[in-house]
Amino acid sequence: MSPELVSDAVEAYAAAHTSPPPEHLRALAAETRATLDSPQMLTGEVEGRLLEFLVFLARPRLVLEIGTYSGYSALSMAQTLPEGARIISCELDPERVAFAEAHIDGAGMSDRIEIRQGPALETIDALDGPFDVVFIDADKGGYLAYYEAVLPKLAESGVIVVDNVLWSGRVAGDPEADDDERTPVLRAFNDHVLADERVVSVMLTVRDGVTLVRRA
Ligand SMILES: C[S@@+](CC[C@H](N)C(=O)[O-])C[C@H]1O[C@@H](n2cnc3c(N)ncnc32)[C@H](O)[C@@H]1O
Repeated sequence: MSPELVSDAVEAYAAAHTSPPPEHLRALAAETRATLDSPQMLTGEVEGRLLEFLVFLARPRLVLEIGTYSGYSALSMAQTLPEGARIISCELDPERVAFAEAHIDGAGMSDRIEIRQGPALETIDALDGPFDVVFIDADKGGYLAYYEAVLPKLAESGVIVVDNVLWSGRVAGDPEADDDERTPVLRAFNDHVLADERVVSVMLTVRDGVTLVRRA
């Protein structure tokens, strides 16, 4: 059993005191749970609203998302995307790409969200940036490579948002009592960001842990 990060009661209270998502995001979440595997990967209402808020504050021209899944986070960020700005989202799995694209079309957002199917590192390599907002939320083993690939292309006032950095609290637990191979990977990633003199970061205990990173 994974350790509890924030109690269920507090999570529910926070969600109940966060502006609710629009109907198209509620419908997407419901259909994700009903039809796709791994629905726990949805960012959900509180983190989705946080992403929408960050995009509202950043006023980006270009947003890069690494890990589309069913499109919840991309559509959350698209809500406050300025006119003419774009989100490019990377996803490996064609079924998830098709699902997300159908919902993006349905929400009338296909002019602002483009999904690129394939390994995210190849997509990042093909992009010049500058990225104003980057959301890292794909395979945990790839986090360090994604971070190193996007940082040189980050806009001067850009922000990198990294999901699942607390890994249900396991990163702060006893290494001897944890057999999840992703725990040491995330610990090493978190230590790398902290020691990186090129950046300033803050780790938030939102949902499964979210780190915000900017240039120093
Ligand atoms: C945690 S989910 C993303 C959740 C999504 N951001 C949301 O809010 O609903 C991670 C996604 O990354 C995708 N993924 C894993 N490895 C990848 C890779 N190397 N390149 C692109 N996508 C990858 C997975 O298929 C999965 O759909």
